[in-house]
Amino acid sequence: MTLTEEEVLRALSGVKDPELHRDLVSLGMVRDIRIDGNRVGFQLVLTTPACPMADRIVQDARQALERLPGVTEVEISVTAEVPKGVPERTPLKGVRNIIGVGSGKGGVGKTTVAVNLAAALAQRGALVGLLDADIYGPNVPRMLGTHQTPEFDGEKILPVSAWGLKMISLGLLLDPDKPVIWRGPILAKALQQLLFDVRWGELDYLLVDLPPGTGDVQLSLAQLVPVTGAVIVTTPQDVAFYDALKGLNTFERLQVPVLGIVENMSYFVCPHCGQRTDIFRRGAVEQECEIRGIRFLGTIPLVPEICESGDLGQPVVLFRAESEASRAFHRVAEQVAAAVSVLNLSIQKAG
Ligand SMILES: Nc1ncnc2c1ncn2[C@@H]1O[C@H](COP(=O)(O)OP(=O)(O)O)[C@@H](O)[C@H]1O
Ligand SMILES: [Mg+2]
Repeated sequence: MTLTEEEVLRALSGVKDPELHRDLVSLGMVRDIRIDGNRVGFQLVLTTPACPMADRIVQDARQALERLPGVTEVEISVTAEVPKGVPERTPLKGVRNIIGVGSGKGGVGKTTVAVNLAAALAQRGALVGLLDADIYGPNVPRMLGTHQTPEFDGEKILPVSAWGLKMISLGLLLDPDKPVIWRGPILAKALQQLLFDVRWGELDYLLVDLPPGTGDVQLSLAQLVPVTGAVIVTTPQDVAFYDALKGLNTFERLQVPVLGIVENMSYFVCPHCGQRTDIFRRGAVEQECEIRGIRFLGTIPLVPEICESGDLGQPVVLFRAESEASRAFHRVAEQVAAAVSVLNLSIQKAG
């Protein structure tokens, strides 16, 4: 008896994506089924190359197919297509998702997180852009070690490419030694240019590093483009967390969904002995998130290499790929990517 494609599909429709709570077939994740005697294969199309559940989904699919009579070999090739969280008719046509990275206050490591998340997503194979919208203190060029002046193609500004990312910052366009005083309308105009006068091209994720607080730039961003969601960065102290909640409320008021909260500088890892020290109450932010129904995106340790690599312009995710810090950023990147997928698919389902 030979196996049919219907039987394969039936088996795979019994396998659920643990995050999206729907089966692989109805999610459109199954493509290119191949049946060759006792061998079955297909292409698994995930919703992000940074899928935290990839191994489990592959394993579940494999088991489901191995249970079919006569199957002795299962071959699954894994690819990803990031769903679009931005409506079709927007000025940024090729950009699939716009993600704001915000915080309640400065100095919590927002730029550090934005840069390393962008690098981690790019490392996983996503097309990633990074827009430095911290108009008051554009630090992204320094943290990426990129100071090239962007080129102009006669119509638009070309983002500079750094470590596989496309990046733009006012820091690249203005004299770094002259302080800039922005007033509302000019500020909105500047952000508008960084969004629309830049040739972003095709991107899975455009990360926007926002200035601290709850001000004009957040408002302008939400008015100018459909933001898929916001990532809030906090540190573990109570005061910082309450500031983070203010940031979160701002996004909610602007009808920007909050993807979740990252806890930066969570714990200290001694570079000499490797011992972990929880300087602040461990797990407090995660607990608060749980109570409030907010996704906790993970913790990033307080370690000298994050600070050093920021100063050197060599993101830790790229230059210390094997470090604990880099692994932590990858885990957070996976959670962000998963939150985007969940949001986009729930919107598709509703609409
Ligand atoms: N987890 C961390 N461990 C060590 N240093 C950090 C960490 N996160 C951020 N820093 C350092 O703290 C400073 C402030 O970080 P930054 O990302 O510029 O904050 P923000 O953008 O919120 O103002 C920088 O010098 C950065 O290198
Ligand atoms: Mg910053």
